[in-house]
Amino acid sequence: MKNKSLISNQIATFYTKASEETRLEKGMGIFEFERIKKLIERYVSTSPLKIIDVGGGTGKYAAWLAEKGHEVHLVEPVLKHIKTAQKRNHKLKSKFVIHIGESRNLKFPNNFADLVILHGPLYHLQKEEDRYKTIKEAKRVLKNNGIVLGFAINYTASTLVGLLNGLIHKKTFFEMCKSELTTGIHDQPEDFPWLLAEAYYHKPEELKKEFVDQEFVCLNMYAVEGIIWLAKNYFANMLDEQQKETLLQLLAITENDNNLLAFSPHIMIAAKNKIRMENKDNYFKRLIKNNGKLNEIDLGESIGLNENETRSCIAQLLSEHKIEYLRNRNCDYSLVKKRIK
Ligand SMILES: C[S@@+](CC[C@H](N)C(=O)[O-])C[C@H]1O[C@@H](n2cnc3c(N)ncnc32)[C@H](O)[C@@H]1O
Repeated sequence: MKNKSLISNQIATFYTKASEETRLEKGMGIFEFERIKKLIERYVSTSPLKIIDVGGGTGKYAAWLAEKGHEVHLVEPVLKHIKTAQKRNHKLKSKFVIHIGESRNLKFPNNFADLVILHGPLYHLQKEEDRYKTIKEAKRVLKNNGIVLGFAINYTASTLVGLLNGLIHKKTFFEMCKSELTTGIHDQPEDFPWLLAEAYYHKPEELKKEFVDQEFVCLNMYAVEGIIWLAKNYFANMLDEQQKETLLQLLAITENDNNLLAFSPHIMIAAKNKIRMENKDNYFKRLIKNNGKLNEIDLGESIGLNENETRSCIAQLLSEHKIEYLRNRNCDYSLVKKRIK
């Protein structure tokens, strides 16, 4: 069970001390759990899916999804969380699979999953290149047309809290907010040890850009808490059925409003792994000319596609019945011949 080098010491120490297990059972956590399940539900069908929950923590969402009949793989670098997830799993009828691992290096084959959830890695990786590696890995393991749900913390989150509770007037807290607002970098001040460890806080459009840059199609951007947590008596409102209903209606009509996303402490992007049509068309033309000379992967390489991109083109062409799995000299795929009736 070696995991020393998987994530930074700061993050590992923070989660080893903090109680991630009970976080979703109290305060804002209760509403977060309820809301995020609703957001995830929009992207899971009733037929069983292969789901990877990267940064899945102690497995609360993994357990819920496994009980719904999906094949769920939880990937988590913190051993304390892994142990809690194992205990949770033990009690389940429909179990999930637990992997000690990390978002930049997933141990799954290409084209493996229908859905990847990134809830943790994107805000715990301060360097842009590390977040890009994470998104690239999600893309690699996703099937063509697979969905990624990427969760981020908003660059305004601490500042809004600080304005509401007065902490903004504490020098170290204010310095932290300035850094988040201007660079996205969040480092917990020494006199606020309970605040989240080492993280990156996104601007909503930046989160979208990180996915679109890697050729994901953005399906939608969602406010997780939205603007409703700003209600004067939020907790009391959420415990009153009628008031809760009013706030949830407000959330429903504002959740995708780009102008209001910045007021939500957490945001989620839903994006689709789409192969570029020009790659697929280009690959198909080359396959016709190739006539079995090169194998299918070298053929993709000859037009600048990596193995994953080539496999996505092949999967798409198979689904369109343009090619079939039939060996033609060096190549495992042949053109589908039109059958004469
Ligand atoms: C705030 S917790 C959220 C856990 C869970 N997704 C949930 O919503 O309850 C963030 C999680 O991300 C994990 N994490 C941090 N960096 C990660 C990385 N690079 N790859 C995978 N998981 C990571 C942490 O160990 C932690 O369990």
